[in-house]
Amino acid sequence: MSLPDPETVPRREFCKAAVALGGVAGLSACLDAGGDGTDPDADGSLADVPTGDPEGAPSRQHAWNDVLERDENGNVVAPTHHVLRGLSVSSDLVDVIGGGDTAALDDARRRFEDALTDLERAFERSNEGLLFTVGYAPAYFDRFDNGEDGPAGVELPEPTALTSMEDPEFDAADVLVHFASDSPEAVLAAEEALFGDESAANGMSVTDVTDLFEPVDRRTGFLGPGLPRERRDVQGVPDDAPIPEEAPLFMGFKNGFAGSQAPEDRVTIDEGPFADGTTQHVSTLQTQLNAWWDQENHHQRVAKLFSPTHAAEERVGEWGEKLGSAPSVTDLPEDALEYAREEGVVGHAQKAARARDDDGTPPLLRRDFPTTDGDHTGLHFLTLQESIADFVRVRDAMTGADLADESGVGSRLNNGILQYVFVRRRGNYLVPPRAHRSLPDPQP
Ligand code: HEM
Repeated sequence: MSLPDPETVPRREFCKAAVALGGVAGLSACLDAGGDGTDPDADGSLADVPTGDPEGAPSRQHAWNDVLERDENGNVVAPTHHVLRGLSVSSDLVDVIGGGDTAALDDARRRFEDALTDLERAFERSNEGLLFTVGYAPAYFDRFDNGEDGPAGVELPEPTALTSMEDPEFDAADVLVHFASDSPEAVLAAEEALFGDESAANGMSVTDVTDLFEPVDRRTGFLGPGLPRERRDVQGVPDDAPIPEEAPLFMGFKNGFAGSQAPEDRVTIDEGPFADGTTQHVSTLQTQLNAWWDQENHHQRVAKLFSPTHAAEERVGEWGEKLGSAPSVTDLPEDALEYAREEGVVGHAQKAARARDDDGTPPLLRRDFPTTDGDHTGLHFLTLQESIADFVRVRDAMTGADLADESGVGSRLNNGILQYVFVRRRGNYLVPPRAHRSLPDPQP
């Protein structure tokens, strides 16, 4: 991928492209584009990126909400820039694990923990600094002699296809690191210090762990008002799609309302050695939105994404601004089948909300973000939940195969947004508590 001309696009847009490019090239391009005092000081620290203190870090790696801001309706404001780095453990480390060399494994563990603590020192744990989680795939635990049943006390299945409409690839990495920040320089610098050629980030040295991992893949994205609109030049969306300025999604709306997100407590493993951890499902979804923008009107888009009631009662507004803190999908007629039969359309959020807990709590904490990886629109659909089974249950509700069979809506057509969304990849991970985030033993 190539970078746009920094003279012709705003710095924000240029640096978004630099995050997608990554590496030293991406980082230095973003710094060179400075202009607003973002050149690093002589000591390499980034302007406006606060340093941090590992001492206060919570046990839950995924405890991000307490440091993220809220909008005027109380919805968590997600960080803008996201990078997912998939890594395999290096062949030397595979030998160490397989050979049961505990001294060498302890040394690797200590060094990785030092490197992660260095990052926490280099960046405040916030949207202005850096948020990150380290997750481990079933394949990682398989490498241990005592890992054949996976991590102790946690169901962590290999990813599988979850609908009859998909034929996804499966993540090949052992380890997945999710970096997030409002600062494009922060995600790039953290990534380069941990897995690239840099030995410091934000003016602080970072322990070298490059011998422990081999890069497998890199995925990127962004979440914020106006960001999809400025990337309408990619495949999968018309160049002139009237995506509202305020919309954070290529489909033209906002997501992640407080009322439709699981609280962090709901997604946290509450017992066993991995208590305070969570499970993570990451699917890479490609979206084909030409017909969404060229053939559907606003009313139809609202009906398909939310529900026909939302469309008829004009509950949503142009991009979701009328919804406040909740998409209000729980006061719809209860029988989704009957409803779909009458309306001939069933909404995405309406379907997915059928999988809420009996007390109305949503089981998934969605931390998904749009992407233009491969110069195509898509969404890295990252969710946290107590168990992968929760994800499968919600995904079944979202797929709505039960509705398609009997209601007259098709398996794809008029069935929420299925017609526009294509699952390309899936991966399952355990995000351990902080105490076990560094190369955990399956039975720590
Ligand atoms: C391109 C893909 C997708 C887009 C653009 C999208 C968009 C949205 C939007 C706009 C909402 C309503 C607002 C809100 O977030 O509260 C929503 C709700 C939701 N979506 Fe999606 N979504 C996508 C894929 C998925 C997938 C693959 C799942 C799989 C499980 C899913 C599960 C949910 C759930 C659980 C809710 C909340 C329902 C509730 O209120 O309980 N979404 N989505």
